[in-house]
Amino acid sequence: MDYIYIRSLQVDYLQNNQTIAALENVNLSLPQASTGVIIGPSGCGKSTLLSILANLNPNYEGRVLLNGKTPRESRDTALILQEYGLLPWKTVWDNVKLGLQIRGIPKNKIASRTEDILKKLGLLSLRKRFPTQLSGGQRQRVAIARSLILEPKLLLMDEPFSSLDALTREEMQDLLLELWKETHLTILIITHNIEEAVFLGQKIFIMSACPGTIIQEFENPLAGDHTARGKMEFLEMCSILRSYFRRGEKDALSPACL
Ligand SMILES: Nc1ncnc2c1ncn2[C@@H]1O[C@H](COP(=O)(O)OP(=O)(O)O)[C@@H](O)[C@H]1O
Ligand SMILES: [Mg+2]
Repeated sequence: MDYIYIRSLQVDYLQNNQTIAALENVNLSLPQASTGVIIGPSGCGKSTLLSILANLNPNYEGRVLLNGKTPRESRDTALILQEYGLLPWKTVWDNVKLGLQIRGIPKNKIASRTEDILKKLGLLSLRKRFPTQLSGGQRQRVAIARSLILEPKLLLMDEPFSSLDALTREEMQDLLLELWKETHLTILIITHNIEEAVFLGQKIFIMSACPGTIIQEFENPLAGDHTARGKMEFLEMCSILRSYFRRGEKDALSPACL
């Protein structure tokens, strides 16, 4: 069954008294407990799409269902933004437990669940630090812990690893795969990185700009294999996507708009 089901999605923004179509006729299906990756040029509407799924923007036309519910009805979505969204004045421990506190969970349960998730993400020894005292990879792990503690069914990530160095980025990709295998979450990730898309996305969606829409979709059997990176098929898949983008730069993927 599809966890994410989008048909004929249209999103308009008003800019200087003009209506601009940010997304037009977007169709996307992502099965439950699978991973999807969206790649597309800057400004093509990727963040807009995530904002619709995360119920941050109720102004859309078309059909959007998450496990059969509208984004407004669904309570099972977590969104991780590029800047991590951590509160700088709270420690790692306090940042991670925040969602449970807001939900009014009893204190002893909060403590045990916070400890569990920090252990799982290798953060327990850093629990008293503040976000500014952490590396980029550590901050990203805190952001993931903060989302997973609420036991979501859908995890949305907007260019989550883009500010990390190459090695930390690969570590985070490995960690995300492990968490996915353990939790059977449905995960939708936005990235600009082709290797990341092939490593993580069982389905890869290519978006074009102006108006933003999905123009191509690949099934990717290599996603989820920790040993995939060095394999010939992996490099071939990256090369197919890359050539697709190069072609796209000249026509469909061109961000030239208006
Ligand atoms: N709140 C907004 N009001 C008006 N226009 C917006 C708003 N948010 C995004 N846009 C416009 O919609 C288009 C898609 O933006 P966005 O979804 O952020 O793209 P991406 O994440 O792919 O870079 C861009 O042209 C952007 O300028
Ligand atoms: Mg964006």
